[in-house]
Amino acid sequence: MTPAPTLAFPRSQRQLLGSVIDSSTSLLAEQTHDIVRFAMGAPNEDLMPIAALDDAFASQRSGRFDYGDSAGEPRLREQILRLVGETEVATTDDRLLVTTGGMQGLDLAFKLCVDPGDLVIVEAPTYTNGNATALSYGAEVIGAPTDAHGLIVDGLPEIVARAGRTPKAIYTIPNFQNPMGVTLTRERRVRLLELAERWGAMIIEDDPYGLLRFGGEHVASFAEIAPGHPLVFQVRTFSKTIAPGLRVGWIDVDPELRQLAISAKQAMDTCTGVPAQNAVAMFLENGHLAPHIERLKPIYRERKIAMRRELERAFGDRAVATDPDGGFFLWVTFAGALESIDTEALFTDALAEGVAYIPGPAFTTDGSMRNSLRLCFATSSPERIAEGVDRLARAAALAVPGAGLPTVGGSS
Ligand SMILES: Cc1ncc(COP(=O)(O)O)c(C=O)c1O
Repeated sequence: MTPAPTLAFPRSQRQLLGSVIDSSTSLLAEQTHDIVRFAMGAPNEDLMPIAALDDAFASQRSGRFDYGDSAGEPRLREQILRLVGETEVATTDDRLLVTTGGMQGLDLAFKLCVDPGDLVIVEAPTYTNGNATALSYGAEVIGAPTDAHGLIVDGLPEIVARAGRTPKAIYTIPNFQNPMGVTLTRERRVRLLELAERWGAMIIEDDPYGLLRFGGEHVASFAEIAPGHPLVFQVRTFSKTIAPGLRVGWIDVDPELRQLAISAKQAMDTCTGVPAQNAVAMFLENGHLAPHIERLKPIYRERKIAMRRELERAFGDRAVATDPDGGFFLWVTFAGALESIDTEALFTDALAEGVAYIPGPAFTTDGSMRNSLRLCFATSSPERIAEGVDRLARAAALAVPGAGLPTVGGSS
């Protein structure tokens, strides 16, 4: 008998990491007890504009099940142009490509900008799937420290000097960063553009949360600072502002790069699903997006305040949380008596207590940040947030019995 042939996976894909976020989601799906869900970064269904989307899908007529334009449905591109012009700075149709969610935008960015072995700088911590995408194209990824004002841009030249070569791309989530919730200051954006020019590096700007600002002042985007800059590859999505299941996003890039991106997309999925594009276009044409976002803002603001308050109540100074002006996430780092907590190890107890989060190491390139975790405040009501934080404190008290955590309500 001839031996069964073995499949040799391509070298370029051996670094592929399963998404920790997705595996946490499937682990969650297996649980049958009540769980407060702080893990996923998605709007809850009760905050999605379901009725308007249902109407938009139902009212579509002929052509909706055909292949569409690879660049995106013209009516949607028209609406995106309007949206970007109203909220940022005018862009042009020859820069836009509709993508299948923000993830496809990131995939195109790394596919088109990075060769195997190229250096890519990412924020530390950063969005797991962004990092994984860079790795899938063979990038050598280095995490750069990030503080309450975003990526510490002034630290980059030293990192580059140590690496002994310049980066091909710098991946940043400038607004309400995933996972920290922090926003890159204008000064740092200007400086990052200067460094990108010096190094000939592409800034991959991933901005799913920018429209969800519920506090503080608007910070000028790269496009507002340097309109049409050829070294900025902007990735956007409607997943967080409308609904993630639509899988509709876009990229805004130099026209020459956009042509390449269109060819690359044709080889990936030909076009983004036409009914979903039409539904988003109609939602925008009917003027639903602005009032929908205005409705979300005070809700998310209240939830962020509630989560910070409950963390303070349950942990005191044993947990330090960021204080975002928008988006979905708090980044929590255990301190003092809880500093030794390993959030990956804690996850099992937390799940048993009935609360889910994403452990810090999932957002790093080297498995560090073990005593940090990401909490999504956007998905739960203030009451559920209080319950979830209590459950987290119970799990932490089990992990570090001598930590002297204040008594938390209820018992499991
Ligand atoms: C920073 C960041 N980039 C990209 C994405 C992916 O967006 P999409 O769901 O539209 O693919 C997400 C979703 O969580 C995200 O947080």
